[in-house]
Amino acid sequence: MSELAQRRLSPEILDDLAESDPRAVASRGDLRRLNVLMGNPWIIAGLLARHVEAPPRRILEIGAGDGAFMLRVARRLAKRWPKVELTLLDRQDLLTPERRAAFAAIGWSVEVLQADVFEGLAAAERFDAVTANLFLHHFDDAALRTLFERIASITPVFVATEPWRAGFPLMASRMLRVIGANDVTRHDAPASVRAGFRGRELSGLWPADAGFALEERRRGPFTQAFAAKAGTSP
Ligand SMILES: C[S@@+](CC[C@H](N)C(=O)[O-])C[C@H]1O[C@@H](n2cnc3c(N)ncnc32)[C@H](O)[C@@H]1O
Repeated sequence: MSELAQRRLSPEILDDLAESDPRAVASRGDLRRLNVLMGNPWIIAGLLARHVEAPPRRILEIGAGDGAFMLRVARRLAKRWPKVELTLLDRQDLLTPERRAAFAAIGWSVEVLQADVFEGLAAAERFDAVTANLFLHHFDDAALRTLFERIASITPVFVATEPWRAGFPLMASRMLRVIGANDVTRHDAPASVRAGFRGRELSGLWPADAGFALEERRRGPFTQAFAAKAGTSP
């Protein structure tokens, strides 16, 4: 059986480093570049634009990291959605004043919700959309079912981009030395691909009775994209 036939979760180094550890700081810089290489900000912006019908008032990103990813998304959407209240949920508060100001410059206000995702979502109110990027693969299928139940109860639209679990992304993730990625990123990237998704695996974990239409497919060479929309067909 191929080593990629089943999801394989293993600890990621970045998750255990202190916020200000120089190796973590460098790895978050690598992550910003990898997101661009994967095209994920553009994929998420496209999914949001397609599935969120009226201009949203409130958007939540779970596992938001330093907010750089969502800033790229926001810049693509700000013309049509000039005033959004964004909540960035993460175990760590990594939003710099400069990045907060960059959001403000396009009319988006930002609240940081520093919490474990399960605790943060337990207390969360409603959002017009919830997003995740390179986050869901941290969790096993049972935890994802619980997470998806909760997300489906607080939003009509959920969109996510995750590593596509396949041979080409795995090979590419083992070659990150060529872009100068540090040891943390070179460890975590292949681990993320092995824990990633393929086929309709995310759809299979979404609550079937919640009344959402689901879309899931590979986008570009590295990404598994997922959208869930209440009521209609995506
Ligand atoms: C690979 S990073 C992705 C960050 C961001 N989405 C991006 O694309 O740059 C994963 C993020 O998930 C956060 N995280 C991991 N487990 C978490 C949990 N149980 N609850 C909240 N945040 C978590 C980490 O702190 C980290 O910032």
